[in-house]
Amino acid sequence: MPVRIVAFSGNARRPSRTRTLVEAVASEVARLRTIDLKIFDVVDAGQGIAVASRDALPLPAARIIDAIENADALIVGSPVYKGAYSGLFKHLIDFVHPEALVGKPVALAATGGGPRHALVVEHALRPLFGFFSAQTVPTSVYAGDTEIVDGRVTDATVLERIARAAAELDVLLDLDLRRDGRRLAAAE
Ligand SMILES: Cc1cc2nc3c(=O)[nH]c(=O)nc-3n(C[C@H](O)[C@H](O)[C@H](O)COP(=O)(O)O)c2cc1C
Repeated sequence: MPVRIVAFSGNARRPSRTRTLVEAVASEVARLRTIDLKIFDVVDAGQGIAVASRDALPLPAARIIDAIENADALIVGSPVYKGAYSGLFKHLIDFVHPEALVGKPVALAATGGGPRHALVVEHALRPLFGFFSAQTVPTSVYAGDTEIVDGRVTDATVLERIARAAAELDVLLDLDLRRDGRRLAAAE
């Protein structure tokens, strides 16, 4: 059975460099195993997301949260805004149930205007997914303004990191599936 992968990008406009980056990670994972891939961004969440509870979210946004919670693995990215993830990205992630991502493999990515905030994955995204006790892959993926051109990742180092992050996600998925198999066997 294909593993269900959800890629969520925090971009609020299109075309989006962040969306390109998470798509590139997803393509690499798809080279390694058969996946059932869904890609969402903040634009997909639509209007009316400035609400305080999950029940009040409009349907398109609620569907994104459901998909994130039910995925076998996530590929998550955000544009850097003022040195951190974007506010709308965090706003949507705030609706994810605190227990829903425990142990879930997650690859992390970000784009910024240049190299200055390349560590945003380490000091912003990784702690956020640490809150959820998700299993984040060790290799973070970051691209500045010159590394994605015309909707394509062109930089060799970024491409190498994309391939590494995808391979690490693939390993975590294998561990997870094996663990699930053992759990099922124990239940029989
Ligand atoms: C409100 C705003 C704040 C930004 N702040 C930063 C920043 O602090 N550091 C940085 O490197 N880039 C910053 N940028 C540039 C974006 O991170 C960059 O253009 C990003 O690739 C946009 O992603 P997108 O194409 O997916 O929207 C900012 C852009 C905007 C619109």
